[in-house]
Order: sequence, then C-alpha cells, then structure tokens
Amino acid sequence: MELTDEILKLKAERNAVILAHNYQRPEVIDIADYVGDSLGLSRQASASKAKVIVFCGVDFMAETASIINPEKTVLLPAEWALCPMAMMLSLPELLNVQKEYPDAETVLYINTHADVKAHADCICTSANADKIVNSMKADTIIFGPDRNLAYYVRKRTKKKIVVVPERGLCPTHHMIQPDDVEKARRAHPQAELVVHPEVIPELQDIADHIASTEGMIMYCKSSPKNEFILGTESGIIHRMKKEMPEKKFYPASDMAVCNTMKMITLHHVRDSLRDMKHKVAVPKETADKARKTIERMLSVK
Ligand code: 13P
Ligand code: SF4
Repeated sequence: MELTDEILKLKAERNAVILAHNYQRPEVIDIADYVGDSLGLSRQASASKAKVIVFCGVDFMAETASIINPEKTVLLPAEWALCPMAMMLSLPELLNVQKEYPDAETVLYINTHADVKAHADCICTSANADKIVNSMKADTIIFGPDRNLAYYVRKRTKKKIVVVPERGLCPTHHMIQPDDVEKARRAHPQAELVVHPEVIPELQDIADHIASTEGMIMYCKSSPKNEFILGTESGIIHRMKKEMPEKKFYPASDMAVCNTMKMITLHHVRDSLRDMKHKVAVPKETADKARKTIERMLSVK
C-alpha cells in the first residue's frame, strides 16, 4: 500500500486529525487536515473532535495542543523536534526577572516550554503579540523569549517591555541578514518584502509588511503585487506557490531553513499513527497552570 494511503487508513481507524505548521516538509503539508501558524493550530487543536491529534510541528506546539486537550492523545511524530528558541528561556531566569519587577505582568511567546508557560499571565503568538500585550492591565510587561518579536511589540505599545532573556532569538530567522535582502531586492526590484516578526529589527524596519506565517500568506493573497521576497523560513513557499500559482515567491535567504521543523517525514507520521508514538505528556499540575495562560490568549478576539 502507498505510504499516503496507509496514513489515511490509520488516521480513520484511530479517529485522528493531522495538524501541520507552515514550515513542515511539502509532503507532510499535503497530507495534513489543517495547515497554519501557531495561533491557527492552537485554535484547531482546541476545536477538534478527533480522539488523536498528530502534531507535525515542534515540541512546544505539540505540548500546547496536549495542554488544551487533556482528554486527547497528542502525538509528535519526531519527538526530537525541539525548537532552539524555546530552550532559551528557563524557569529560574523567568522567576528572577519576575522578582525584579513585582508589579509587572508576564506575556510569553508560545515558543516556550510548559513549565515556563505555567508562570506566565498570558501566552501570545506572532499573530497576536501586540494585541495581547495591549490587553494586559500592567504598565510593565515581562516578555520573552524572542527579542525580535519584542522589538515588533514595542513599536505597537506604550507599555514598558522587559525582555527575558535579552539574548533570545530564532536561529533560523537570524540567518536572514540585510546583505541577503539587498541581493534579493536587486534581483527582483518589483517584489514586495514581507517578513516575519522573528527577523532582526533592521529588516522589520524596511519591510512592506510584517506578519505571522499565516498573515504573510493572507497578505500575499490580498496584495495587487505579483512578486514577493519572503523573510521567513523558506518552507512557507510550498503553500504560497500551491495557493497562488500565478504569483512569484523568493526566499530572502536560502539559509533560512529550520532543521527542527523538517525532522518529521511521512514515515514518521505513519509510524506514529501505527504505534501510537510519541505521546506528549505534560505533568498535570504544570498543564493545569499553563492551560489558563493559553486559554486566556485564545479568549482574546
Ligand atoms: P507562526 O507560524 O505562528 O508565525 O510562527 C513561526 C515560528 O517560528 C514557529 O516556530
Ligand atoms: Fe523554533 Fe525558529 Fe524553528 Fe520556529 S523557525 S521552530 S522559532 S527555531
């Protein structure tokens, strides 16, 4: 039997749904029931009626799906797909900063581990970071771990933003440097520059549009322009080309590949459904606390 057919058969037998992030391998994106950004995937996970969620993404995403669906089984087909940015914020480091700013509230990027989320007031994604920060009561917001997303938020709020840790960033988005963009713009002078808020400030400042991965796709669909230079992980181009075959897309840098996002293959998806592995397990006490912070984010419309 073809691998894809085997996956579809197992999916039906297990009453499973396959969710995939926009940076996944093209063949994984093509078999998914829903493809999207971190916010869309969290919403899908919370709305899903399936018994099993196969999460084709990275650790913190599958962990989030499991926290908001304690009664469901969440599988991460490659349990070694660990996001380096999420590793950059440890609980002791967060607690130290919270001690320093007792009147502040804490908003953490969804790219964090469950134990750290459990000590936040609210979670955010790249699609709603400014909205979430502006919805908080405190004038000072502890925000982490992405210093570039913090730069994006600072430009859209009057609140004081304290970044923890100051060094936090996405190594993949940091591969995109001004020299790369200059080169891409010289080669494609008609193209609009559309970037993710995880890119460095210098590139955010010259971009035509900044958005989450789903926001980038929506923007390119609605723009009258036909050519785009994309400042994000280059996997996004698969969906862009599929959904807008008449338009042209160029990666801002060929170096912007997230190896972690590419770890899941169709074989891993098949194996995870066949053997019901690798199950995400978050300790109940941590999950109960973290759920409140994720649900608070999901309640902000
Ligand atoms: P979004 O798809 O939510 O914009 O996130 C990008 C990302 O880096 C996920 O790891
Ligand atoms: Fe983590 Fe960056 Fe990869 Fe997203 S693109 S999973 S933030 S390393």
